[in-house]
Order: sequence, then structure tokens, then C-alpha cells
Amino acid sequence: MAMVCLTDFEKYAKEHLSKTAWDYFSAGADECYTRDDNLLAYKRIHLRPRVLRDVSESDTRTTVQGTEFSFPVGISTTAYHCLAWHEGETATARAAEALNTCYITSTTSTCSVEEIVAAAPNGYRWFQMVVYQDRRLTEQVVQRVEALGYKALVLTVDMPYLGKRHNNIRNQFKLPPHLQFKNFNGLQKQATVDPKAYITSDPSITWKEVHWLQSITSLPIIIKGILTKEDAVLAVEHSVQGIIVSNHGGRQLDGTLATIDALIEIVDAVKGRIEVYLDGGIRTGSDVLKALALGAKCVFIGRPVVWGLVYKGEEGVREVLQILKDEFRLAMTLSGCRNVAEINRNLIQFSKL
Ligand SMILES: Cc1cc2nc3c(=O)[nH]c(=O)nc-3n(C[C@H](O)[C@H](O)[C@H](O)COP(=O)(O)O)c2cc1C
Repeated sequence: MAMVCLTDFEKYAKEHLSKTAWDYFSAGADECYTRDDNLLAYKRIHLRPRVLRDVSESDTRTTVQGTEFSFPVGISTTAYHCLAWHEGETATARAAEALNTCYITSTTSTCSVEEIVAAAPNGYRWFQMVVYQDRRLTEQVVQRVEALGYKALVLTVDMPYLGKRHNNIRNQFKLPPHLQFKNFNGLQKQATVDPKAYITSDPSITWKEVHWLQSITSLPIIIKGILTKEDAVLAVEHSVQGIIVSNHGGRQLDGTLATIDALIEIVDAVKGRIEVYLDGGIRTGSDVLKALALGAKCVFIGRPVVWGLVYKGEEGVREVLQILKDEFRLAMTLSGCRNVAEINRNLIQFSKL
């Protein structure tokens, strides 16, 4: 079967995963309005291509936090990769390394951070985390990933509680017994800890804990889950190094703006003081182009990586990334841009509908 676009991988994954696993990966919260609008929102935004601009040479490279990547698409944090492919996150890490892009490892990975680093020693990675009620445990995790060479901490701030995902509740979804939250083996006695405690944040945290995190690490901090200009400005004022405009792929609060729609006011408020990234609903190269034109420095993909894993492990994720890279180059050059520096808001026309 020739895989031509990301939707082909989605179809394959749906056909080959168990219903419970498919429901887990595809879930959105409540009525899934936000999950679906993340994709639909791109269809409401049109491109204004320029022509006759010599696009015989093109360059998709960009920089993120000062590091060069081959194209402006990274891998967002999704959990439980061993549920999609037996090698789990080690396969994902190798694919990200091969395509020279950033991989945000999930705290709740089913391979340990040590295994992930060993599988792709030259890969560039950030570590996604939450602040636990147990601050000592949080600190241990931070020290561990810092020692392993992770380049930034991605603090998820939209998960003080788990969103209501209907099918997961109906299926009574939980991690199958042969899989584990490998990062926590040995850190705490498993028997005493409710697995949910590893996923959601301490709901009492505020910007004070962001300061605390800054005091225990020298790594840059990227805040994931910003959807308003007010919070974006607070992030700048609290000296974090970047933000990810994200609604968690529509898995948390249903009814928020699609991320591409939220991006604009945030970029305007941040005024270039820190890098702004985006995830949610990116499925084509022109989606990437639109996000960059509206001011995202780089975008990240969640579910498509899982679909790639289901298809062929590392090779499948490579294919997903390569397709997006090729599509992005095509959309960029068909719009008259030779490189990412030439992409700007003049490319965008909002639909009048
Ligand atoms: C199966 C799954 C698990 C996820 N787990 C986490 C997580 O543990 N922490 C987090 O911050 N985001 C998590 N996310 C959200 C993603 O990081 C990302 O925001 C979202 O998937 C982007 O949307 P997309 O799937 O449309 O690309 C998860 C998403 C999925 C689909």
C-alpha cells in the first residue's frame, strides 16, 4: 500500500489497532469539537501565493532555541508508544534523529528516558513534564533528564485534571499490564502510587512553581498549553524561553479555539520576545506553511506520529515526517517562498465565509 499523505496512515492505524487502543489515541474531550476544529480551522485560512520569484532552489531549514533543524516540524509529546509499536518511543526517537528534528519525550513513555537516549544518542530532545504534588519526585525527574542531555523542559500546564474522554471511560481504558510507566520504575514503590498521579499536574500550581522549576534547573523552560495573549504575556514576564500554543489535541477542555486561531493574538502579544510554537491538527505541508506565516517558529505533530508507528515503527514515523517535509517544501515554493525567512503574514487570506 503506497502511503501518500498522513490520512493514509490514519486509516491504516484505525484498521490495525484494537478498538480500545484506537479510541485512546484518537480521543478528544467531551464532544470532540476542539479536536476536530483544530483541523477544520486550516481550511478557513487561505493562501495568497506569489509567482515568478525563482523558486528553483529551496531550503526548509529553521532554528529552534538556536539549534538548526532540517524543517520546522517536530514531534509532540504523546504517551504509550509501546501500545502502537513494540519498540515504542525508541523507534520514535530514531526517526526524529534520522530526520534531524526535535522529539518531545513524554513523561509517561513506555520506554525509559535512558532507553530512548541510548537508541538515538545524537537526537535533539526536550522532556515533557508536569509538576507533581511530590516535589522531590519532580526534582528527581528533572535531574535525571538534565544528566541525560535533554535540551529543554516542556511544562504541560493544561492538565490539572484529566479531560473527559467518553470512549476511554466506556472502555475503562488503562495501560495493559505488560506495559509500564518505565520512567518511574524504582523511583517510588509502584504499589503506593495511583498511575493517574504520573499524568496530571498538581492542580494547585501557579507561576510560583514555574519560578521554583527555574530554581532547580539550568535548562530552558517551554510552557505547553497556552491559548490566550494574557497567559502568553505572563510567560514572557516570567522569563520562560518559549511557549507551545496547544489545546492538547482537543483532549482537555472542549470548546476552546483551534490552535491556529489562537496563535494570532499570542504572536502579536509576545512581539518576538520568545519563540512561539504550535501543535494541534497539523496534517499537511500547507498547514505548516499557514502556521509559520501566522508567526509560529515551528510546529509539532502528535497523533500522526502514532499512526506512523502503527504502520512500520521507526520507518513509519520517518515516512510521516518525510511526507510532511516534502509537502511543506512544495507548499512553500508554490507560494513563492524559497526559505522559511520569506514566509510571512502577507501569505494569508482569511475566508470571508
Ligand atoms: C495519545 C495522546 C497522548 C498525549 N499525551 C500527552 C501528555 O502526556 N502530555 C501532554 O502535554 N500532551 C499530550 N498529548 C497532546 C499532544 O502533545 C499534542 O498537544 C497533540 O497531540 C497535538 O495535536 P495532534 O494530535 O492533532 O497533532 C497527547 C496527545 C495524544 C493524541
